[in-house]
Amino acid sequence: MSTEDIRFEYIENFGCVEDDLLRALERETALTQIHPKMLSGCYQGHLLAMLIKMCKAKRVLEIGTYAGYSAICMARALPADGQLVTIEINDEIEWLSSKYFEKAGLQDKIVPIVGDASEVIPTLDGRFDLIFIDGDKTEYISYFEEATYASKRLFPLCPVQLPSGYYYTFSFK
Ligand SMILES: C[S@@+](CC[C@H](N)C(=O)[O-])C[C@H]1O[C@@H](n2cnc3c(N)ncnc32)[C@H](O)[C@@H]1O
Repeated sequence: MSTEDIRFEYIENFGCVEDDLLRALERETALTQIHPKMLSGCYQGHLLAMLIKMCKAKRVLEIGTYAGYSAICMARALPADGQLVTIEINDEIEWLSSKYFEKAGLQDKIVPIVGDASEVIPTLDGRFDLIFIDGDKTEYISYFEEATYASKRLFPLCPVQLPSGYYYTFSFK
């Protein structure tokens, strides 16, 4: 057994398993999208949910909805009166995310916005307790600046590196 297998077995033994809905979303993404690996998956979804619960976030912003996998994981972790605002530039994938938001019964908790995050963020009202930046990697600094310094809505910063090797940046109130 490789070190990676041992690591995955350890994670799964701690209850990190995918339900039927997320498994179906992962499968439909693989069947219909050109880059299905962009979807965060079970382990990262659990990490996001854990972070939301740990900081008792009520209002979350996501940049990069894609098929909606991480959005579902995060929205499920929010309290009943919580809200997830998620921005996606590609309007050709909206049918897939909205189909699964509805199947998950999360349409009242998730506010999907189609548009360029750089243009949408400055138009958003109110503050967010946590931001999941998962859009265009080259734009992370500007997303962060727009979402934090420009709006003065988020601080301090807690950077997290996930197994995919990308740097994801979370911001807590
Ligand atoms: C890695 S995928 C997101 C995966 C999703 N968060 C998940 O974990 O399942 C990145 C997404 O960001 C979107 N994106 C890229 N640039 C963007 C921008 N400027 N504004 C909004 N979305 C953007 C892409 O179209 C793509 O769907």
